[in-house]
Amino acid sequence: MSDLQERYDFAIGLAVEAGALARRMRGAMAAADAKSRLDFCTEADLAVERLIRERVTTRFGDTMIGEEDGGDASDSVWVVDPIDGTTEFIHGTQRWCISLAYLRAGQIEIGVIYAPDDDRLFAARAGGGAFLNGRPMSVSHLAHGAVPVVECGWSERRPLATFTDLLHRLVAGGIEFRRHGSGALGLADVACGLNDGYIELHINAWDALAGILLVREAGGCTNDFLADGGLRNGACLVAVTPELVARIADTLTASSGPIRWFPPCPS
Ligand code: IPD
Repeated sequence: MSDLQERYDFAIGLAVEAGALARRMRGAMAAADAKSRLDFCTEADLAVERLIRERVTTRFGDTMIGEEDGGDASDSVWVVDPIDGTTEFIHGTQRWCISLAYLRAGQIEIGVIYAPDDDRLFAARAGGGAFLNGRPMSVSHLAHGAVPVVECGWSERRPLATFTDLLHRLVAGGIEFRRHGSGALGLADVACGLNDGYIELHINAWDALAGILLVREAGGCTNDFLADGGLRNGACLVAVTPELVARIADTLTASSGPIRWFPPCPS
């Protein structure tokens, strides 16, 4: 078995184990700490991140960058959000997940997202396709024939006015929008065709990298998130079914400049 296949199988098992821990802790959840007015961290976020870090470093000696405790980049690094959608987790919805990405020499090789409450496991390996609970998945290709729906995430890292301007442009261009509270699951929804796209003007790598690989491996297009320091500093994120590339490029150029697609996408 190749060491990438070993890490892939490991990531799937670990995401499920981490999800079970988060669910157990949710039952007895203590008060959440506010990182900012709108950004929270629970004891479950911290415990799940500790579990993942312990497993990853013990098994492979890789480095890990986690949302809560940080960490170092390397040529063999895991990028982890222990609970993406923390506000949803606190509010008791199903819209939260564990997000694990593995990067080798700066490329995303493995992406796994697990949504424990509805037991959805999304997994992809670079060049190996994308799967939902073991079944191959595909972006929508707008086959539904209805108005395109794009989820748009937002945080205080970007001015609200820039976000509302983006929403305005999307609607003016005939595209519907949603916001559900987990960037990782928003990307997973693009990969399995429930949404036609996901955009966030700034998002962190731990929220985005696993989902980016899912979308690419499911036939979608994403921007070059890791260019210009995206791993450390986060970046603008665009992920769409290929049929929306030209429309989204027009819409976004006004809000955030031209999009560099990676790998290149049809326009
Ligand atoms: C947040 C969620 C949200 C996105 C933010 C993220 P968290 O992550 O993914 O949907 O819009 O940019 O920070 O705090 O729930 O892990």
